[in-house]
Amino acid sequence: MKTDNHILVIFGASGDLAEKKLVPALERLAEAKFLPERFAVLGVGRTPLTDDSFREKLNAAADNKLSRILPALHYLTMDTGDISAYGGLKTALDALAKKIGIDCNCIFYLSIPPSWYTTVVKGIASVGLNFNCKEGAWKRIVVEKPFGYDLTSAKLLNRELLSYFSEEQIYRIDHYLGKETVQNILVTRFGNAIFEPVWNRNFIERVEITAAEQTGVGNRGGYYEGAGALRDMVQNHLMQVAALAAMEAPSSASDSAIRNESLRVFQALRPIADIDQVVRAQYTGAMIAGKHVPGYREEHGVARDSRTETFAAMTMYIDNWRWHDVPFFLRTGKRLPSRVSEVVIYFKPVPHKLFNSIAHVSDMNNRLIMRIQPDEGLLLKYAMKTPGAGFTAQTVNMDFHYSDLGGAELPEAYERLLLDCMQGDQTLYLRADALEATWAYITPVLDRWGNDPAVKMYGYPAGTWGPPAAEELANSYGGWRQPCRNLSNDGTFCEL
Ligand code: BG6
Repeated sequence: MKTDNHILVIFGASGDLAEKKLVPALERLAEAKFLPERFAVLGVGRTPLTDDSFREKLNAAADNKLSRILPALHYLTMDTGDISAYGGLKTALDALAKKIGIDCNCIFYLSIPPSWYTTVVKGIASVGLNFNCKEGAWKRIVVEKPFGYDLTSAKLLNRELLSYFSEEQIYRIDHYLGKETVQNILVTRFGNAIFEPVWNRNFIERVEITAAEQTGVGNRGGYYEGAGALRDMVQNHLMQVAALAAMEAPSSASDSAIRNESLRVFQALRPIADIDQVVRAQYTGAMIAGKHVPGYREEHGVARDSRTETFAAMTMYIDNWRWHDVPFFLRTGKRLPSRVSEVVIYFKPVPHKLFNSIAHVSDMNNRLIMRIQPDEGLLLKYAMKTPGAGFTAQTVNMDFHYSDLGGAELPEAYERLLLDCMQGDQTLYLRADALEATWAYITPVLDRWGNDPAVKMYGYPAGTWGPPAAEELANSYGGWRQPCRNLSNDGTFCEL
């Protein structure tokens, strides 16, 4: 696909995201020769910097030195909160466009706190930068998460954005969709004939989606206090992954076909009637490998009596013909034993048991594990005859690890997402209707948590898989998988 010449304007360019993700991703795109011939970055922010000091700062922060992208980086010091300053942005953009010899194609990337979105968008529009300057040219805007705080605020933000930009111009980021292994869920399902016939309630007993992190909130306590695991991970990343695992086959691989199918999954979600279907918890201090790890309430920027959850687990149901009454177990948390994200499909056991099994009962469920990270790959667990007399079955693995491809590097999520935006492909970005549908599902839980002090906030020692209440959600099905760092392993004694 062709990438038109353009300028990428990054608001909040002196912040962490630009430094850690965006500019390194641009360097890799430049290295892979994916950037157009005429291209420039205009970093914008309040921190006073020159082009040179901006380049030096980014270069010093990069793990791998920036060589290709450096000359393309420019900087404009500007008070983004002051609408009258946007004339200066227009002048700087026009001058840069003239310098590199392009018309007006432009991406505005909002890498700023959500409370500034509206002001910046109004500022851009106040000098007409939201309009295409001529036929065939384009303006696009990328909005980082969190996109809203609940259904009402998400709707309001959509309304505000849509009063200046059209839906085709708006790119709402969910970086999980930029992960190669998340996209591979669609290819596994719809690029093979063997899975789809059994991908339904007749053959699948349950689905489990985990996104576990080993680290705590670190220096993001201030942000996290206003978010919590349900907003930070479930409403976006986990639900997007669930949609890919659950959707009907799209009629084509086009962005609208795929996004229509995601929306239909969210529209079919069964409202959460029982609040015990969702478990929330906070990590507490613990000794891990001989070191004291602080509890959430001891973290910097966190209130000592905080009611923000760092762990959430829930049972979700999709009320349609394919999934009726099949539980989707979702869990995420900080300070869990391992950093691992994966989708586990548990197939129903055989209808009539012929063979003895040497492993425990749940082993007779075939399982397909789609590992998002780390040790990215696919694992199928199935029964095989144990060699020797009689008919005893044991579970064995059939696995594929991306690392076996040798030399094939998995691109970083931001690399893929930036390139897609440059090429005008919205498949991996969220559409307003789907985003609102996920908030419509989650908001009643947030309201209840906020308003009803009787709803329990559990604790779990740092380094464990969450509170017993989360284990209990899946108990009647044999419990959650205990994933290990290595995709092929599971169980208590693996390397985490
Ligand atoms: C972000 C959350 O969206 O995703 C963070 O705000 C979280 O709290 C991160 O740590 C996890 O992303 P990844 O790619 O490391 O799994």
